[in-house]
Amino acid sequence: AADTRYEAEGAKLSRAAVATNHTGYSGTGFVDYTNVAGSSVEFTVNAATVGNSLAIRYANGTTTDRPLDISVNGTVVASGVSFGSTGSWDTWATKTISAQLPAGTSTVRAVATTANGGPNLDYLDT
Ligand code: GCU
Repeated sequence: AADTRYEAEGAKLSRAAVATNHTGYSGTGFVDYTNVAGSSVEFTVNAATVGNSLAIRYANGTTTDRPLDISVNGTVVASGVSFGSTGSWDTWATKTISAQLPAGTSTVRAVATTANGGPNLDYLDT
């Protein structure tokens, strides 16, 4: 299926906030996770056909990994996915995850697994 882009600033946030204090993001901002385990970003997506990959654009200006557990419709489909350093908070990279995404409306949730919280998130492409 063709990519559909879901901006993180339009997602449902828990212990995370929309921010604009770095450059290079798409849309009107990005999401800054609170530096705590369990902080999360939940996208509601709609797919015309079954998909098999999720691509997340992110920045991590630290040298420490910021892993995320990725769930689809409440089931973890990829745990502890690495979101390593991008060198700067203004430098964005894309992480692609192999995961089944059903046709129709789904939730895709990305939950921080360490006390550092998640990386900054720009968008999800399905
Ligand atoms: C800095 C940076 C934020 C980032 C945060 C973090 O404060 O400006 O964009 O989210 O570090 O460590 O998560």
